[in-house]
Amino acid sequence: MKTLQNKRILLGVTGGIAAYKSAELVRRLREQGAEVQVVMTRGAFEFITPLTMQALSGRPVHTELLDHDSEAGMGHIELARWSDVILIAPGSANFIAKLTYGMADDLLSTLCLAADVPLLVAPAMNQQMWRNRATQANIETIMQREISILGPAEGDQACGEVGPGRMLEAVQLLHAVEAIFQNSMLAGKHVIVTAGPTREAIDPVRYISNRSSGRMGYAMARAALEAGANVTLVSGPVSLQAPDQVNCVKVNTAKEMRDVVLSNADDADIFIAAAAVADYRCEEIAEQKIKKSEKTLSIKLEKNPDVLADVANLLSSPFTVGFAAETESLKDNAIKKLKGKGLDMIAANLVGDELGFDKEDNALEVFWSGGSLSLQTAPKEKLARQLVHAIALNYYEKHSNKAH
Ligand code: PMT
Repeated sequence: MKTLQNKRILLGVTGGIAAYKSAELVRRLREQGAEVQVVMTRGAFEFITPLTMQALSGRPVHTELLDHDSEAGMGHIELARWSDVILIAPGSANFIAKLTYGMADDLLSTLCLAADVPLLVAPAMNQQMWRNRATQANIETIMQREISILGPAEGDQACGEVGPGRMLEAVQLLHAVEAIFQNSMLAGKHVIVTAGPTREAIDPVRYISNRSSGRMGYAMARAALEAGANVTLVSGPVSLQAPDQVNCVKVNTAKEMRDVVLSNADDADIFIAAAAVADYRCEEIAEQKIKKSEKTLSIKLEKNPDVLADVANLLSSPFTVGFAAETESLKDNAIKKLKGKGLDMIAANLVGDELGFDKEDNALEVFWSGGSLSLQTAPKEKLARQLVHAIALNYYEKHSNKAH
């Protein structure tokens, strides 16, 4: 499997001869399935052209803080929101000093301030500049802010000197990025995720359904997998590909979804219901295609089982996480569902024409007894990782309380 599938890496290139290695790094990141956007400082232009980075990343290179053309419609806030990780390689002594003081006088330094994602810096500079007490003090300061420093390596330098200051090789930086996405928070846990819509037949060619694309649920399944879980994904009809390591079971109707979920729930530790299950199905499914002979047509609907409530009501139920899709009163309605269905957590999203369903981005308000969390607008993949992290923390808290 490609290790960085669906991961969004923002590569910041600052001025230094090691910038040539960044070109190789872009290639390696993309080989592993990552989407890469490159931001270059003015200093970087002296060492490598934006055209090279554009060709390798397959995307326009971002350079200017206020030039809308160069930013190709993506400003610093959008870029910060877009990224899963920011890697600065090479990181010059000057850029490290800017990071230390929180300066925001160009695109790269500004988006480093605006981002709330892991920030990695691969320093590259002359050995004396690296050893200088000012640089060392800056490195110490930024490490206290949980900025990771990768390297530098020791050896021959472009300036003819020998010592520490060489940027790590592209493959070493690739491994450091891969390590960010591998965690073991849910190692050994069985997580069931539902995703996508259900389809309730009206006749042999028509059905009732909704606009769920399955993206949110598939992203949850992937995030649980990355956290080390064994994942069962129970999916309604969508056009997405599940990761190979996930046990994906395809269903059509709410009843089928319920049966598959319940037959897997015995040894499940966590159940995450991201599917948009149809609340009603036709009381009778016409055996033949319904003809348009009548002026009006009434179809009698009956209630579907509630998959999530049925799991939460099991005698030994897993840790249950619902989603709430609301067009109004997000918090009130979500808390009603949290309490009404007896859930451990609920992630609420506003849905409508431009929100929630079938969109790349989403925003979530997460609630549980005694706590809440706001996850700002971001790609669903990124939100899923944040939500899985919050679920794992709550899961372990519940189980440590049970043990005491
Ligand atoms: O698939 P995408 O295009 O990415 O869109 C994502 C999403 C908007 C569908 C997703 O984020 C989301 O909100 N999923 C839940 C949709 C929903 O059915 O919400 P609800 O408020 O109607 O239901 C509350 C909870 O009960 C949900 O966890 C739902 O899965 C569950 N439910 C509902 C009805 C039912 N019969 N069985 C259920 O299990």
